[in-house]
Amino acid sequence: MDTTLPEPSVEEAAHSARLADAIRKEIAASGPVSFARFMERCLYAPGLGYYSAGRLKFGAAGDFVTAPELGPLFARCVARAMAPALRACGKDAIWFELGGGSGVFARDCLLELQALDALPRHYWLLEPSADLRERQRERLQTDLPTELFARCAWLDRPPQHAWAGVLFANEVLDALPVTRFTTQGGEVFEEHIDANGNGAFVRTDRPADPLVAGAVRHLQRSLGREFEDGYRSEVLPQLPWWLEAIAGEQTRGAALFVDYGYVRREFYLPERRDGTLLCHYRHRAHADPLSMPGLQDITASVDFTALAEAGIGAGFELASHAFQSEFLIASGLDAVFAAAYDGATDEAARYALAQQVKRLTLPGEMGERFQAMLFTRDLDSDAVFAALLAADRSARL
Ligand SMILES: C[S@@+](CC[C@H](N)C(=O)[O-])C[C@H]1O[C@@H](n2cnc3c(N)ncnc32)[C@H](O)[C@@H]1O
Repeated sequence: MDTTLPEPSVEEAAHSARLADAIRKEIAASGPVSFARFMERCLYAPGLGYYSAGRLKFGAAGDFVTAPELGPLFARCVARAMAPALRACGKDAIWFELGGGSGVFARDCLLELQALDALPRHYWLLEPSADLRERQRERLQTDLPTELFARCAWLDRPPQHAWAGVLFANEVLDALPVTRFTTQGGEVFEEHIDANGNGAFVRTDRPADPLVAGAVRHLQRSLGREFEDGYRSEVLPQLPWWLEAIAGEQTRGAALFVDYGYVRREFYLPERRDGTLLCHYRHRAHADPLSMPGLQDITASVDFTALAEAGIGAGFELASHAFQSEFLIASGLDAVFAAAYDGATDEAARYALAQQVKRLTLPGEMGERFQAMLFTRDLDSDAVFAALLAADRSARL
């Protein structure tokens, strides 16, 4: 891991200092904040948080690259995999994307769905960052034919009335504020952030409230062992409620989550004693979430066993859990790549396509670090690719 971080500009440093001041004020008023609250402020404080402020995040000039940012192959595969489910939901089917990033996924997905004659009635986006919402709107208005752009709509909150179709989220779960916990003598403690006499942020552990303590006890029961004293990791106690809030009104269709993470017993390996937290700043990854508030991304890996529990708890059936490479291959990556390759106009474009496939599928790249979990609700099995059902490795959960 490269630990030398590029220096922020004077303007960026001033921006970060404003957010740090706001967090210090909150701590002065009501005591140390939970790590989850600290992460929420760092990422989503209006106008100041990493995702809420205007800096470029995605792509080569930003801090990290996501699968849709590599090129259109990822979105085309997802569109192909989900087209049967959309069709099964009829002419009023909805595509509902959470956390649309720069808007490239929505663009490439809508164009592919049009080519497949499987357009949804509406393409909804739910995006907490006002800045990203604007970027998505601009990109889609510029890049899409008017008829397709007219299908896009931005929601202010999860849908409050019944809908059917496809729910999709790439790298959203890893951006949800996580609870950090540790155990000592059988007791559960929650990590909080305090400010010391110099105003620097420091960690401090406080007895966990019943929700967090219950979530950690559930983990221990499910793993069949207690965490060692001092073991520290992350959990999303709110995941079942969050998913219920997002998908509670979805009467029919599919929900697909792609993210990096592990099944539970790999997430909570005894030797992984400080969790999975990772920060990204200009393509450098490091593990100090307390530095440069607002300037860096903070993420944690996803416990896919917890996601499966939450999905089933919300009334979904778990249809398939696969590595991203397996998911893409089962969704027709070969054909999608061949069509793009045939259509490429020069050698550089063909080379870029081959590179895209490598980044998406090689085990050391995104192929196995990223996993796809597909849920269905009230869908016949012929609305899901047989290859996706065959790729299912949920027995490992
Ligand atoms: C790592 S980015 C991924 C962006 C995009 N999906 C991609 O793959 O390029 C995380 C995205 O999730 C959004 N997000 C975070 N919390 C969310 C929530 N509770 N609901 C919907 N989107 C959320 C962020 O604002 C951001 O757009």
